[in-house]
Amino acid sequence: MRKQIVAANWKMNYDLAETEMFLVELKKQVFPENVRVMLGPSFTNLNHAFKSLRDHPVELVAQNMHQSEEGAFTGEISAKMLKSVGANIVILGHSERRTYFNEDNAILAEKVNTGLENEMTIIFCVGEELQEREKGKQFEFVKTQLSEGLFHISDDAWKQIIIAYEPVWAIGTGKTATSEEVQEMHEFIRKTIAESYSPKIAENVSILYGGSVKPDNAKKIFKQPDVDGGLIGGASLKVKSFMDIVNACDKSQSE
Ligand code: PGA
Repeated sequence: MRKQIVAANWKMNYDLAETEMFLVELKKQVFPENVRVMLGPSFTNLNHAFKSLRDHPVELVAQNMHQSEEGAFTGEISAKMLKSVGANIVILGHSERRTYFNEDNAILAEKVNTGLENEMTIIFCVGEELQEREKGKQFEFVKTQLSEGLFHISDDAWKQIIIAYEPVWAIGTGKTATSEEVQEMHEFIRKTIAESYSPKIAENVSILYGGSVKPDNAKKIFKQPDVDGGLIGGASLKVKSFMDIVNACDKSQSE
């Protein structure tokens, strides 16, 4: 059975004091056993969150990472640095990294290799822009992102991969894809993995949806058979709305 996952992507929000306030509140919550919950604060707050969440089921996620092991890359963060502060999971290929920081599929393929070599779990993001969807080219586009950025990995490496489908036009815009559109793309991604690798690998990989997930639409999206949880931006910044989404993901509770 695939594990359900809800991961918070805080992006460039919350300083140390704000992070601490959130963590104090978060630790009072009761977490469903069937959902893996992840928190992605800024790099500067990972160490604090790591110490605060020791022996707590919430796992830490880094929002990005450099592809090199170390060296003269001013301002960058390595896999080893992340792991030393308890972040064993990293988001790669988020559309904001692709758009504002020119991360293309070739760079992402290198980052994936570095993450795998460092035994990290990777949340690999894919998703089309509005123009591709309007031209009906969203499937082709996502397939290229997968094949150029990810499909060079070995069968065995899939144990370390989580996919996040995030249509760019739905991120931070309040426009969610319909649950039918989400299911259609998730099914396509799973089929593409099955064809390029094997049905067994495809069946075991968790595919998250991201893009304006809120407490009021989460349940409908998470109910889709190929949706295994969500990557949450804006709605993860408040404990109450984040927990509502986490609880909506608990399929054992669904009616
Ligand atoms: P959003 O962001 O939930 O604010 O749309 C999702 C993401 O970018 O991961």
